[in-house]
Amino acid sequence: MLSRVLPPDGLRFPGAGAADPCSFVAYRGFLHSYHRALAGGMSDAAFVELVRRLDSAVARVDGHGFSVTPLERSDVLSGALGFSEPGGVWVKDETGNVAGSHKSRHLMGVALHLEVAGALGLAPRGERPTLAVASCGNAALAAGVVAAAVGWPLRVFVPVGADDGIVRRLVELGAEIVVCERRNGASGDPTYLRLLAELDEGALAFTCQGNLNGLAIEGGETLGYELVSQLAGEGLTLDHLVVQVGGGALASSCAQALGEAHAIGELGGLPRIHTVQTAAAHPLERAWRRVRGELVDPSDAAELARVLASAAKRRSMFMWPWETEPRSVAEGILDDETYDWLAVVRAMLETGGEPVVVDEARLVRAHELGQEAGYAVSATGSAGLAGLAELIAVGAVAPTERVVLLFTGIERGR
Ligand SMILES: Cc1ncc(COP(=O)(O)O)c(C=O)c1O
Repeated sequence: MLSRVLPPDGLRFPGAGAADPCSFVAYRGFLHSYHRALAGGMSDAAFVELVRRLDSAVARVDGHGFSVTPLERSDVLSGALGFSEPGGVWVKDETGNVAGSHKSRHLMGVALHLEVAGALGLAPRGERPTLAVASCGNAALAAGVVAAAVGWPLRVFVPVGADDGIVRRLVELGAEIVVCERRNGASGDPTYLRLLAELDEGALAFTCQGNLNGLAIEGGETLGYELVSQLAGEGLTLDHLVVQVGGGALASSCAQALGEAHAIGELGGLPRIHTVQTAAAHPLERAWRRVRGELVDPSDAAELARVLASAAKRRSMFMWPWETEPRSVAEGILDDETYDWLAVVRAMLETGGEPVVVDEARLVRAHELGQEAGYAVSATGSAGLAGLAELIAVGAVAPTERVVLLFTGIERGR
């Protein structure tokens, strides 16, 4: 597994009040692109200027750039789920983020690498290689916006029946659309298989999956850094983080960000990190169960490290494409493989979290409840709430505990 190691030079988060509203500026010390830039002779001020230029270009394309997304206790959700003070449900609301979801964070992180490479004369001269992504939802839209902002060509692999509105918007953003049919008997997502072939031909992965482009993870980490700073600003500790999982980059980014914050003393204790998938497809839960089955005592750190290292070498025994084509209202988390599975399994085992599988009734109710609470959230974006309801039902979360949910995507009209 590829993972980014922080420089051992006493990194700190910006203090309350000193933080820049753009997290790619505020937490730049945690970005590999920043360290690459400085190593190549760029000054701190020039890097900040580069981020601001790119952020303004994003704003020209999407109407606004990146700024810290809100975190607040939802009294409606806390009350509906039976929480009492000091417990409750806090929602980190990504529905107003660039392109309507957290996905744009991952791609802004990658775009900064492209810009730094360009500024240092390391990018290919002349025609730029094509950026490529397989998605027909939030990742595609985020890729469309950020690619348009950096001015790189983008090819998007979508399935048959992709949403017309999304495809229209991608075309407006200048992306090239390639429709991929599912072949009878072939295993695996056809758009993903086409993407892999495209990458073999020399395209660059502009994806929100850490296995194809590890640099996507650190952009997503800005969500976790913001969360830690916001909790600290209110003097709150956190007991549980519940994250909906498709390809796994979101959960992987959050786990890495919280782990780093903990390691440098910005976060007192780690919350239990739980994941949520649908009953229609839960490859992460299947992988977690298999890893868990090889452990005698998951609280034994040495044994856990040994089993995870061994699992990493036997991927196909833990993770393979879901056998049947899944359907759910939470369509954004139906990836038939959890590409970033190992980092997420590790995070659950290290923090004592669980992989929760929810049925359609819970997902539908959570979606309604999220909207009743005032959020323009999609069924995928509110899937963490469905998972929380399940965790409460099995007694894994107590009414006086504090829980953070990530409302990750906006409801789009069809
Ligand atoms: C709104 C929303 N939330 C969560 C996810 C899951 O993110 P990941 O695929 O990184 O697990 C997705 C993925 O498409 C999404 O669109």
